[in-house]
Amino acid sequence: MSLEIRPMTAGEVEESELIGAYAFNRPDRRDLAHATEQALKLYPTDWSLASFEDGEMTAYLRMLPLVSRINGHGLRYGGVGPVVSLPQHRRKGHVGALLRESLKVMRERGQVLSGLHTPHPTLYQRFGWEIASERRSYTFPPKDVALKSEPGERGRTRMLKPDDWPQADRVYRQHSARRNGALHRGDVWWRNNLLSLDAPTPADIALWEDRQGEPQGYVIYHQPTPAQPDEYMGSFWVRELVALTSDAYLNLILYLSRHDIAKAIRWDAPTEDPFLSVIDDARHVTTTARYDLLNRICDVEAALRQRPPADPEARLALTLEVRDDTAPWNGGRWRIAVADGTVDVEKTESQPDLTLTATTLAPLFNGYLSATAAAFAGRLEVHGEAALATADALFATSYPPYCADTF
Ligand SMILES: CC(C)(COP(=O)(O)OP(=O)(O)OC[C@H]1O[C@@H](n2cnc3c(N)ncnc32)[C@H](O)[C@@H]1OP(=O)(O)O)[C@@H](O)C(=O)NCCC(=O)NCCS
Repeated sequence: MSLEIRPMTAGEVEESELIGAYAFNRPDRRDLAHATEQALKLYPTDWSLASFEDGEMTAYLRMLPLVSRINGHGLRYGGVGPVVSLPQHRRKGHVGALLRESLKVMRERGQVLSGLHTPHPTLYQRFGWEIASERRSYTFPPKDVALKSEPGERGRTRMLKPDDWPQADRVYRQHSARRNGALHRGDVWWRNNLLSLDAPTPADIALWEDRQGEPQGYVIYHQPTPAQPDEYMGSFWVRELVALTSDAYLNLILYLSRHDIAKAIRWDAPTEDPFLSVIDDARHVTTTARYDLLNRICDVEAALRQRPPADPEARLALTLEVRDDTAPWNGGRWRIAVADGTVDVEKTESQPDLTLTATTLAPLFNGYLSATAAAFAGRLEVHGEAALATADALFATSYPPYCADTF
């Protein structure tokens, strides 16, 4: 039996679509013409890796060339998804082989970080991905929303057409300039990912402008479908609410609350969102939080070098001893020195301040977990007295990480 790992060819895309459609039980799996056409249009085949046993495709994954922001800078980020295998070929290590190979490929492409969404965190933790952000969800009946503070002005809320996405994008860019974990979005991403123009219930966008006509916020949401009122009543979904000002924030919440046909609105938000402090009676809101992205450092040296400090005045030095069985090029002792807003990284033989796996480094790197919290959780070894405080300062971020996009 032979196992081959390589990018799929254009002629093999339909075969891969069948694996994906079966794995996620997509309704289109009896007719894959549209999915195949879309895949050929949107995803160059060299973004893929597939496994072949005796010539038959058994599994595949895709590495999307994304950019993720941290402390005001964009880092190249390999978005891994989907990851799927045929049931008769599962638990044979094919996906493990694809994940190992993907790390080499992403590193070669300068994708210093990688990230994915998954219902199987333990699978990916074996290969060095680790939980690196959380998503908060509010669920509330829109009729019960009353605000503690009134907006200073009503401004104007208007619905955008799909082609108007650049107006929302202008707001998004300002908002994400200092945000951590936000992805760079382009035309294809807005249309196909955020607005889901192909989906049965495409997304709507409402933009809020102040009295000068300046856009200051928007909300992207999916409404219930009238054809299936009972089923969809509960699933009004707010994918993203972005506001540059308090007036934009409060007006967009009022706008959402007027969607009174919905029994409940579910709103996905970052963990620092202040909705519970804004609503008059927080008992009407059910709040849940769950892990979101798992991140992986594909290239420790390059990632550390490219990561700006949160405080441009910081002067810090730290030596990390990193262990990485899956991506051995990351292993060793790394001396990190930050001064005058620049970061210097070099391999060293000197004694480390902290010892940790690349898996633990991923959530430290993007500010999801502080070094102090990681030590508390038993996830790293501390050798020097001041090491934790220095690492906390080194890996500090302007905001907790959050990515509204799914892929
Ligand atoms: C999840 C899925 C991709 C795993 O594929 P697979 O071919 O069984 O994976 P592998 O055999 O290469 O397993 C790699 C390792 O992960 C482990 N693993 C596999 N599936 C796992 C799961 N669901 N949860 C936890 N660990 C898992 C395996 O035991 C193996 O560990 P080992 O190397 O220590 O033995 C496959 O079951 C699938 O396609 N599921 C449906 C779609 C899906 O859920 N995709 C993932 C979305 S992120």
